[in-house]
Amino acid sequence: MANRIVLNQVSYHGEGAINEIPGLAAARGFKKVFVVSDPGLVKCGTTAKITDILDGAGIAYTLFDEVKPNPTIENVQAGVAAFKAAGADSIIAVGGGSAMDTSKAIGIIITNPEFEDVRSLEGVAPTKNHAVPTIAVPTTSGTAAEVTINYVITDVQKQRKFVCVDEHDIPEVAIVDPVMMLSMPAALCASTGMDALTHAIEGYTTKAAWEMTDMFHLEAIKLIAANLRKSVAGDPEGRKQMALAQYIAGQGFSNVGLGIAHSMAHTLGAHYDTPHGVACAMFLPIVMEYNQEYTGERFREIARAMGVEGVDSMTQAEYRKAAIDAVRQLSVDVGIPVKNEKIREEDLKQLADEAYADACRPGNPRDASAEDMIELYRKLM
Ligand SMILES: NC(=O)c1ccc[n+]([C@@H]2O[C@H](COP(=O)([O-])OP(=O)(O)OC[C@H]3O[C@@H](n4cnc5c(N)ncnc54)[C@H](O)[C@@H]3O)[C@@H](O)[C@H]2O)c1
Ligand SMILES: [Fe+2]
Repeated sequence: MANRIVLNQVSYHGEGAINEIPGLAAARGFKKVFVVSDPGLVKCGTTAKITDILDGAGIAYTLFDEVKPNPTIENVQAGVAAFKAAGADSIIAVGGGSAMDTSKAIGIIITNPEFEDVRSLEGVAPTKNHAVPTIAVPTTSGTAAEVTINYVITDVQKQRKFVCVDEHDIPEVAIVDPVMMLSMPAALCASTGMDALTHAIEGYTTKAAWEMTDMFHLEAIKLIAANLRKSVAGDPEGRKQMALAQYIAGQGFSNVGLGIAHSMAHTLGAHYDTPHGVACAMFLPIVMEYNQEYTGERFREIARAMGVEGVDSMTQAEYRKAAIDAVRQLSVDVGIPVKNEKIREEDLKQLADEAYADACRPGNPRDASAEDMIELYRKLM
């Protein structure tokens, strides 16, 4: 089968990238923009960095700021109604994965109204039309939702998160400006950075990985290993490099998929509201240990990219251990807990069945059964 790459039409990177927005909106003929953000970002003034630019340029907009972390079906439906009420023709998403994913679902439903129930978008839905024209402006350095063809929505009623994969939802434009990420508190910076590392490592070892995505993933691992600690400590250069690293990882994994660290992380988000990056970080070294025999030489390159010295003279067992240890150490250094006290024995079967049904599971290098995953959950208890 041929390999496929889907990317933004255009992306801008680095300080000052947000100033490109008026020109991009004008060139695309935006008349009324629907700005999708969340209350936390409005409160800390980060959303205003974009709405001030729109005000200055005289671009009309309506702000929808009701997105909650781990966004829900109801969130999306409220957004669709607000988009229609606003008479908007375009979207600017300002936020982390939650605001960007919500805006993707809104944009898809506006142009494909037969999916207004939201649930029918799960997996690879047969949408016919591209989403509403969208400019995505990430404020966390993790999900890379600004360049992916995925979005993740929570079904509160069924207590599950579901992944939607659709080429029609990729934002035309990504504005990756580290200035938008400066307000992140350290814990958010750490968890979203570990999400990005999980994307890079799962994307590098997933079944469909190939030369072009390897290039993205290895570079992302290298940048994250060198910069995540600095970024968490508040160093502006570290934040800048992490903004780039997470985007580079997104260019890869969006096109080849992930693995069971993500499948299991989604269940912790749905059941216990565990932040996505924290859940990914907890599972990443555990899943690397579980997968290691199925990854050929790949852990040598992961260890090298993580900054481990002397990998060429190591045995297979040594470089595999070195890669896992380096990931575990980074996670500890940025303050991610190693146990999840919320997981209950009586929930394990349901969690594992849901992780087995998750869209990321088939991409895992080792075919994992629900029983295997129960044992992996236990390692967090
Ligand atoms: N689409 C994809 O490809 C993809 C990939 C990975 C994860 N996700 C999804 O993304 C969601 C997680 O997104 P996230 O980790 O970016 O966090 P988030 O968007 O859920 O935001 C978490 C909290 O951080 C706050 N916040 C965000 N940026 C901030 C900033 N700059 N300053 C201060 N506070 C800020 C928000 O207000 C919010 O309260 C999950 O639902 C996850 O499943 C999607
Ligand atoms: Fe993720």
